[in-house]
Amino acid sequence: MRAAEVSSEITQVLVTEEQILAKLEEVAERVSADYEGKNLLLVGVLKGAIMVMADFSRSLRITAPMDWMAVSSYGAGTKSSGVVQIRKDLDEDLHDRHVLIVEDIIDSGLTLSWLLENFESRGAASVEVFALLRKPDAAKVEVRCKYVGFDIPNEFVVGYGLDYAEKYRNLRDVAVLAPHVYS
Ligand code: PRP
Repeated sequence: MRAAEVSSEITQVLVTEEQILAKLEEVAERVSADYEGKNLLLVGVLKGAIMVMADFSRSLRITAPMDWMAVSSYGAGTKSSGVVQIRKDLDEDLHDRHVLIVEDIIDSGLTLSWLLENFESRGAASVEVFALLRKPDAAKVEVRCKYVGFDIPNEFVVGYGLDYAEKYRNLRDVAVLAPHVYS
């Protein structure tokens, strides 16, 4: 669905589907060049990263196996709790792999800083991050993020994989959720 179909539940469209897809092409060009000839493994963080992984991986010009990890830092609320819980671990061995973590959003940074440390301790040759969205004003910890799509304001955003209570992941655009929906 497009933002117009949920216009009463959002206050503003921050990034349109067209802008997202153009940005993914741009980042995919860089990643294709940077990882050419390397043993790349894309790691998606469920569930938010499903859309970005699907579109980004198909924009790459190189072979890119993928694996998935499920962690949770939010629960059903709207603020980061700081608690990272593993719900599904990787299937792949990271030893000597060049890992690129694919994320929908860096909010507090707690999830990614934990993942970076965790993956490095498993013997990966390198671990880098591509985050489609980043909220600089929400950062609680500094995260090393090599590829960033868009820096956005510290608002509660939904769409393109991002949810509120499992809704709005299938919204094509990224939009600010109206406060009356969650308060
Ligand atoms: C979201 C998002 C990131 C994380 C970012 O996931 O997909 O993984 O929070 O937040 P942080 O920078 O404050 O740690 P969430 O736990 O909501 O799960 P989901 O992807 O299944 O919606």
